[in-house]
Amino acid sequence: MKIQIITLFPEMVEGYFEHSMMFKARDKELASVEMINLRGFGIGPRKQVDDEPYGGGDGMLLKPEPLFAAVEQAKKNDPNAKVLLMTPRGNTWKQSKAKAYADDAAGLIIICGRYEGYDERIVTVVDEQVSIGNYVLTGGEIPAMIISDSIIRLLPGVLGGETSAEVESFNDDETVEYPQYTRPAEFRDMKVPDVLLSGNHGAIDDWRRKNAQANGNTRA
Ligand code: 6GU
Repeated sequence: MKIQIITLFPEMVEGYFEHSMMFKARDKELASVEMINLRGFGIGPRKQVDDEPYGGGDGMLLKPEPLFAAVEQAKKNDPNAKVLLMTPRGNTWKQSKAKAYADDAAGLIIICGRYEGYDERIVTVVDEQVSIGNYVLTGGEIPAMIISDSIIRLLPGVLGGETSAEVESFNDDETVEYPQYTRPAEFRDMKVPDVLLSGNHGAIDDWRRKNAQANGNTRA
């Protein structure tokens, strides 16, 4: 899968994909992640990318010309790619969405919003507007990393050896994982539940089912 991320801060986003599973996915060529620097499509000698809102108000908006030019460049690289706009107004991202995009395997072009917003005309080239939750961030870079990570880890071969991606949390957008423990069996007077040391796989499965908690229902 090819993911192209349109951003004014390519270094900020690129770094995330240079480590751990994201690095492995790219290294094995299961996913490609490329930055498109919006500044490169800025207007005039100062490479202007933002301007004041018509009608007044605080802050600056991303201008349409650089945004359209960047999306057109990305489409030229990958004509069938879907265009996602990161915005707090979008559909809330869910595991089921990550799965659908991973299964679809079409490339993605992710636009990171910045400043106080963007010229609304960009939505005419967008396939889906995406939010990562009900709070406000200063830009779409973190959301772009989050949705890319959640898709890439589901691509065949990325989690090698593990069954994790299919059986774990949020397959129904609701339940989460059960608690897990590793050695030592006792640490600062805290003991690992006996059943997990028992070797009785039926009993262990029962314990795990019983202790799988819903999102937002943890004690701390
Ligand atoms: Cl996608 N962008 C911004 N700026 N804030 C957000 C968001 C996106 N999702 C939740 N908050």
